[in-house]
Amino acid sequence: MTLYFKNGEYTEKDKLSISIDDRGYYFGDGVYEVIKVYGGKLYTAEEHFGRFLSSAQKIRMPLPYTVEEFIGIAEELVRANGISEGHVYLQATRGVAPRIHNFPGDEVLPMITAYAIDNPQPLGKLEMGVAVRTADDIRWLRCDIKSLNLLANVMAKQEAVEAGCGEAVFVRDGIVTEGSSSNIFGVKDGILYTHPATNLILNGITRRVVLKCCAAESIGVMEEPYTLEELRGMDEVFLTSTTSEITPIISIDGETVGDGTPGPVTSRLQRVFEKTIQQAMQETN
Ligand code: PDD
Repeated sequence: MTLYFKNGEYTEKDKLSISIDDRGYYFGDGVYEVIKVYGGKLYTAEEHFGRFLSSAQKIRMPLPYTVEEFIGIAEELVRANGISEGHVYLQATRGVAPRIHNFPGDEVLPMITAYAIDNPQPLGKLEMGVAVRTADDIRWLRCDIKSLNLLANVMAKQEAVEAGCGEAVFVRDGIVTEGSSSNIFGVKDGILYTHPATNLILNGITRRVVLKCCAAESIGVMEEPYTLEELRGMDEVFLTSTTSEITPIISIDGETVGDGTPGPVTSRLQRVFEKTIQQAMQETN
């Protein structure tokens, strides 16, 4: 039996229904989070739900729960569904109302749904890396919001997959922004390069952990815009996300990165990242 969460209740998946008038369905009018579960424990849950509340606030959607309450909901889903290695997906839409673009009245409450699902670490990709394909970043200018509107991301990812690649890398005006569902990093002469956390990217939680790992390991970081040409010339390239962790990128548009195998800085960061997972599993109860 799989239990899902819907506005305060835990219900069997098959018994749960959502109205056709949900604004998420009509407009993608909502925000979401994906939180990883390791050894039955949530990883960086406070950071994820902090960003969730911030995304909701940026689209002027008040939520009825605090970070702690959201963590409680996610923990309950993990426990009730017996998830050991997986993730929690949680989203909030602006609720159910007749299809009119402007916001409904205050009496319409957000529709909050969530579930926990098995999703083991992608060990093959972590070890071997993935190929990527570049795509024009045609998204809106509020990529800092983790919005349900993902059409440009979906299109870019599909084209990447059709080209035999694992991810699409967005390029806006010649500048590398991020992946379709990940952040992008390059390493040149031992220094890490990544796009700054502006409105043009989602400030990934994994990205933040990687930057902390770099500080702890005295790896220099340049959070500055860099071009696609510069990315192509990097010694190492990798992507990060909650579910992909630190995945090496071994080719860009068919052109090999470095010697075509995961580089030493990437592998080192993977090991340090793994330690943060082990620590988090020990700290929380
Ligand atoms: N995606 N950038 C975009 C556009 C993303 O969609 C994601 C995550 C990231 C990485 O963020 P984080 O490290 O917090 O997961 C960056 C999630 C995993 C998804 O949509 O499934």
